[in-house]
Amino acid sequence: MTTVLHQSYTPKKWNLAGLKGISDHTLEVHFGLYEGYVKNTNLLNEQLEALAHAGKAEASNLSFAELSRHLGFEYNGMVLHEYYFDNLTSTGNGAPARGKLFDVATASFGDFETWKKDFAAVGGMRGVGWAIAYQDPKSGRLSNHWISLHEDGNIAGFAPILVMDAWEHAFMLDYKPAERSKYIEAFSSNVDWKIVESRLVS
Ligand SMILES: [Fe+2]
Repeated sequence: MTTVLHQSYTPKKWNLAGLKGISDHTLEVHFGLYEGYVKNTNLLNEQLEALAHAGKAEASNLSFAELSRHLGFEYNGMVLHEYYFDNLTSTGNGAPARGKLFDVATASFGDFETWKKDFAAVGGMRGVGWAIAYQDPKSGRLSNHWISLHEDGNIAGFAPILVMDAWEHAFMLDYKPAERSKYIEAFSSNVDWKIVESRLVS
């Protein structure tokens, strides 16, 4: 009989104490929320696997349909938080003034600052979601996108380069809901630009 790969994820850990403008308390709460997405992704995979093995993976099975529909929300909730925490650092390495990322952003937006400003504008939009700068692996071009919740707006095949959580839980303990721009400023000052650059795929 074929061996079936059981899909299960372990929550990642980050040491981000001492970020500028994003408190350790916010991070602690945020890590807890992230772990909830890992737990739910594992749970959904487990339940869907059980239904498949039991021969109950049918479109007319409402449990199967509901679990399948919810999978993108939990999965992206897990994955995007990993991109987000991975692209933060408390030992700031400063936005690049040259190099590959600088060149790609310049080629895509005219100059690096215009790309950053466009990204911040996307992140400042009303609603619950994410700002993500993607690179199109075919053209190499960067483009900034708004993702509603976790799953609506991601471009299949594009590589996430810079990922910012724009849910209010990312900043509500540090700023008022109307002060999202202060959070975006804080986020920008904590970006790990070396990690961002390492995500370029072309
Ligand atoms: Fe979040």
